[in-house]
Amino acid sequence: MTREGLAKAGRVLAGLVLASLVGGAADKPAPLDAEHWRKVFARPDHTPTPPNNPATTEKVALGAKLFDDTRLSGDGMTACSTCHQADLSFSDGVDRHVGHDGQPLDRRTPPLWNLAWGLSFFWDGRASSLETQAMVPIENVREMAGDLQTSLRELSSDPQMRRAFAAAFPDDPAVSRDNLAKALAAFQRTLVSPETRFDQWVKGDDKALEPDELAGFSLFVGKGGCVACHQGWRFTDEAFHDIGLPSPDKGRGPVLGVSAANHAFKTPSLRERVWSAPYMHDGSLATFEDVVDHYADRIVKRPTLSADLPQRIELSATERGQLVAFLNTLSSNDPPRPASLPAKAMVAGVGAEAVAASTISQKDRRFSPGAVVLKTGEALRILNDDTRVHNVRVDGPGTSFNSDAQNPGDTVTIGFDQPGHYDVICGIHPQMRLSVDVAQVSSSGKK
Ligand code: HEC
Ligand code: HEC
Repeated sequence: MTREGLAKAGRVLAGLVLASLVGGAADKPAPLDAEHWRKVFARPDHTPTPPNNPATTEKVALGAKLFDDTRLSGDGMTACSTCHQADLSFSDGVDRHVGHDGQPLDRRTPPLWNLAWGLSFFWDGRASSLETQAMVPIENVREMAGDLQTSLRELSSDPQMRRAFAAAFPDDPAVSRDNLAKALAAFQRTLVSPETRFDQWVKGDDKALEPDELAGFSLFVGKGGCVACHQGWRFTDEAFHDIGLPSPDKGRGPVLGVSAANHAFKTPSLRERVWSAPYMHDGSLATFEDVVDHYADRIVKRPTLSADLPQRIELSATERGQLVAFLNTLSSNDPPRPASLPAKAMVAGVGAEAVAASTISQKDRRFSPGAVVLKTGEALRILNDDTRVHNVRVDGPGTSFNSDAQNPGDTVTIGFDQPGHYDVICGIHPQMRLSVDVAQVSSSGKK
């Protein structure tokens, strides 16, 4: 298909989606397809852990201790748990925590549930693993104002700590920056939100939800359009969206160097959020009612608005109440305690079998095919036949590629001059992964 044809197809598709949303608002809602949604929201039976930092009881115990340890901060008064408080879903109950300089931090303290499944960290996704994330608050002058070398020296002068590090890292028992980061990350991966009434419903108990809550769920997956971004059992697509909050914070845009991603923030999980008000990256919305009113009436229109955000959501007062009633079913009745799930090492490189292909589709936020083999010197065409703006990026030997904003209909062409393995991702939708293997060509293999 031509580039123009694709752009047109994108517009027609967008039109159809809009028509179905508007049509849906006027008609009676379609009955809830319970069987389908029970599959979509089913909980996993294990926690993924990276192969280079497997979870052990000793490591998790050390991480839990460090999480509470004020020796990680410059003034000896602040621990991770000062801001990430267990009884508040590992958040702090304020819109923005007051930093060491007496001024509020730039963003709200996010709850820490279910980050073992996270693909990027912080509201703007600037950290790519929990291990790399952990050092940031310690050395941030406004958060913990610590000096890592001083903290490590202090910890290693404590015999109990030395023993805990040795038990956690038998092959390399040092009180080091690496081990500190690994222990904190391993502990945080155990923060799995417990089952709530919604999960009882998912498991097949029709009576677990009240009629109003179930009506709210129908709106959530139906005309409210919430499930476009809050999907899966954690209720997040791990992607970045501008949902039209008035905040001047540019979010993901500056991290990627792509202005089309300005005002976009990582979709938060909705688990155990009753305990972590206020909401949004700036803590600007105090209650679930305010959140629902935002989506229905208060979206700031601007060019960067997410294509996954419904253009118009008409919600009556009753329907708004039902949505809020549903959101409440994703939280425990008492301050939640982490569920215990067995850990399993993630297997790298599973997925599609690599095929020879020169053109890749991006429909529905998926690279297709998902794995390709090329010869050295060959180029790959990636065409945006999706309805969303993408940002194609490549990591691998000798290549660093950034497409900038790739609008629907745009094709991006990337040449691969060096043999090796490359991962192509979308900076706005990090769950999109394309594996590229570039094979060496022998001189006789020239065409
Ligand atoms: C002074 C308050 C404060 C302290 C202390 C603090 N944090 Fe945070 N934490 C924040 C804020 C604010 C953010 C969001 C910053 C952003 O997104 O730009 C955050 C973000 C995070 C995230 C990212 C979560 C996500 O959903 O992406 C993790 C993980 C985290 N902190 C862990 C820690 C650990 C581990 C420590 C201790 C070493 C710690 N924090 C100490 C306030 C704090
Ligand atoms: C286009 C994607 C998208 C859609 C559609 C969407 N959300 Fe969100 N949601 C987000 C993002 C992104 C944030 C965080 C925004 C920020 O802080 O700037 C968010 C934040 C929230 C929060 C606050 C969570 C917290 O801990 O701060 C709630 C609650 C929420 N959404 C509920 C809903 C409901 C209910 C709907 C449907 C009416 C909905 N969302 C539709 C992407 C979306």
